[in-house]
Amino acid sequence: MPQDRQTLRRHLRQARRALSAEQQRRASQQLAHRLNDRPEIQRAQTIALYLANDGEPSLMPLARLLWQQQKTLMLPVMHRDNGREMLFQRFEPDTPMAINRYHIAEPVWAPEQVIAREGIDLMLLPLVGFDHLGNRLGMGAGFYDRYLEGNSPRPLLVGIAHECQRLERLDHQSWDIPLNAVATPEHWLDTREDLRR
Ligand SMILES: Nc1ncnc2c1ncn2[C@@H]1O[C@H](COP(=O)(O)OP(=O)(O)OP(=O)(O)O)[C@@H](O)[C@H]1O
Ligand SMILES: [Mg+2]
Repeated sequence: MPQDRQTLRRHLRQARRALSAEQQRRASQQLAHRLNDRPEIQRAQTIALYLANDGEPSLMPLARLLWQQQKTLMLPVMHRDNGREMLFQRFEPDTPMAINRYHIAEPVWAPEQVIAREGIDLMLLPLVGFDHLGNRLGMGAGFYDRYLEGNSPRPLLVGIAHECQRLERLDHQSWDIPLNAVATPEHWLDTREDLRR
């Protein structure tokens, strides 16, 4: 891919925002059923997800299915004092929500509801672009990469995307943490660990 990361981000974000409301609705329904049937999801008790923004597929239909199965769901929250840090806080149907500085809803800050990374079994990550090796292009702030750095146990990492976000090959930086799998409305892709790096 000859483009630099900023140009790539702009094109891919524009492509997903161009999807119609009907395409988005269908994508989130298909993702809910596809993911709910996966053994990786069934095995996980504590699952982190995100609230859709900027044309990302919505995971709310999936969240409703998971709540019915008594799964513990988590959402990212921006750290109050350290604006560069993201934490994960419990998300229930009646969790009070607030709008953060990125204009995205997040649970109202409640430190007793934070669960450490080691306690999260599986994480569904938003992304801007991905490839078949599990390389992930995010929005460019590095929040997920910083959250996942270091050697303590990591959740199973599953990127969530529309097919229009798939790239032939994506360069990665030293700090980029690769995904274990990517789910789109049409496919589940186990990324090829043996081919990485
Ligand atoms: N583990 C890390 N240690 C130090 N800096 C980091 C780390 N991870 C990311 N960064 C910083 O964050 C910046 C953005 O990272 P990157 O371009 O990979 O974002 P991204 O993966 O697209 O975004 P995000 O993870 O928020 O979805 C990098 O330029 C880098 O300086
Ligand atoms: Mg990155």
